[in-house]
Amino acid sequence: MDISNKTVVVTGGASGLGAACAYQLSLAGAKVAVFDQQVEAAEKVAKDIRGRAFLCDVTDPTAVEYAFKQTKEYLGDVRIVVNCAGIAPGKRLIGREGPLPTDEFVKAIQINLVGTFNVMRQAAAEMSTLSWADKSQSCGVIINTASIAAFEGQIGQVAYSASKGGVVSMTLPAARELAQFGIRVMAIAPGIFATPMLLAMPAQVQESLGAQVPFPKRLGQAQEFAQLVEHVVRNEMLNGSVIRLDGALRLQPK
Ligand SMILES: NC(=O)c1ccc[n+]([C@@H]2O[C@H](COP(=O)([O-])OP(=O)(O)OC[C@H]3O[C@@H](n4cnc5c(N)ncnc54)[C@H](O)[C@@H]3O)[C@@H](O)[C@H]2O)c1
Repeated sequence: MDISNKTVVVTGGASGLGAACAYQLSLAGAKVAVFDQQVEAAEKVAKDIRGRAFLCDVTDPTAVEYAFKQTKEYLGDVRIVVNCAGIAPGKRLIGREGPLPTDEFVKAIQINLVGTFNVMRQAAAEMSTLSWADKSQSCGVIINTASIAAFEGQIGQVAYSASKGGVVSMTLPAARELAQFGIRVMAIAPGIFATPMLLAMPAQVQESLGAQVPFPKRLGQAQEFAQLVEHVVRNEMLNGSVIRLDGALRLQPK
């Protein structure tokens, strides 16, 4: 799908991978709505790209619905959605303080999986009412962010891996169902990227993580993720699958 003048929603667009997508798609000519819980940071990104920021907790379906309504009002019909809002909790199933509290597991599922679902259901409902965006009979594109932890989760990633495994598993059934409307659904599973989520770790840990990547031996850059998002939007044959973006990294048990 051509990006110029299209309306895009990026969740988690205030930081890291989401912010990089907001900048990248704006440079390609899109009108970008930044959905995030961190409203000040979201407004800063939106101001830079002459988009709009909307306070939106993706776990709340009513808030998501309202943010879509506002986006339509200010920027027009949404054609492209990039789901990046997420958290990366790390805790063992059996920790020093006992079993992993169920509410911590539920929180990861709520934000990473239910949040992605909430945005996808709203996006799909709205895109399905639109006419074709171009002569390729395309109505919309939804790109969700999984993680390679969905496939080879490390010790301490039970909750995170479960949430991202759900994101992976939604991809094909959603793509199959939405094909009738000309809506594509894709997921990207990043390896290890240098974003605030990762940069909060000690420098030594970051270096050691980067060194585990076969090639290139470094952390991924958020812009490299955003470049793939742009390609997925443009390339119509990409549908119903999950792309690993990881420099051949396969996570070790710990
Ligand atoms: N950085 C990595 O190495 C890496 C690897 C694999 C997958 N991912 C995934 O990529 C996505 C983006 O991660 P990032 O590294 O850019 O992290 P980040 O912390 O820089 O950005 C995440 C953004 O999501 C927002 N967010 C969190 N909960 C939210 C909620 N309930 N509602 C709305 N917004 C919310 C945060 O405010 C933040 O702006 C996440 O889903 C993460 O799991 C990241």
